[in-house]
Amino acid sequence: MSSRPEQLAGVEGVDCTGKQVVITGSTSGIGRAAALALGRLGADVIVHGRDAAAGGEVVDRLTEIGATATFVQADFTSTEAVRRLARRVREETDGLDLLINNAGGFFRDETVTDLGVGITFHVNHLSPYLLTAELLDHVEGRIVTTASAAHQGAVLDIDGVRGPSPKTGMEAYSHSKLANSSSRRS
Ligand SMILES: NC(=O)c1ccc[n+]([C@@H]2O[C@H](COP(=O)([O-])OP(=O)(O)OC[C@H]3O[C@@H](n4cnc5c(N)ncnc54)[C@H](OP(=O)(O)O)[C@@H]3O)[C@@H](O)[C@H]2O)c1
Repeated sequence: MSSRPEQLAGVEGVDCTGKQVVITGSTSGIGRAAALALGRLGADVIVHGRDAAAGGEVVDRLTEIGATATFVQADFTSTEAVRRLARRVREETDGLDLLINNAGGFFRDETVTDLGVGITFHVNHLSPYLLTAELLDHVEGRIVTTASAAHQGAVLDIDGVRGPSPKTGMEAYSHSKLANSSSRRS
């Protein structure tokens, strides 16, 4: 059986030629698989992450497929880096058909970033929120966020995000994914 996501999703016949797509966190994992799938369907892809070597490898794979691809590096613990990413996206595209907010992860050490919030909430929620806000008038199609079932056990606690987080890695992860989700529990 094929493990290609576009075949598993039954969309291998969809023609994405000319569609302009940004996938954050596409140097590995789910984002990388989505980038390659969309490239095979014909989309032009902006690949994002911190690891330039891994990003270059994804761009090379996309180029081999025949897609147009560019890597843009941005660390999501930096507000300025997210704004730079948004500016690059505007320079590289004349409108976005798809913004996929996928970058994120589980951080064992819940350090506090220069925004004064835990790294998990910053990377998984605030930076995607900022990128979306910066690009909102540039997106002509859809905005997709990679969610997680881990949000189900969390309780939204916006007042508690400032300062050192009392949450463990998994609690912080679940909370960040709840913040990304449209469903709320309180
Ligand atoms: N794997 C699962 O079972 C699962 C389940 C549900 C949801 N998810 C969600 O799916 C998304 C992708 O996860 P994955 O499993 O594919 O993980 P992954 O393979 O570790 O990929 C994470 C991606 O996010 C990027 N990233 C991480 N920290 C970053 C930072 N500070 N600044 C910029 N980019 C950063 C990484 O880029 P660099 O390494 O280049 O920085 C990488 O491209 C995440 O949002 C995760 O919460 C995963």
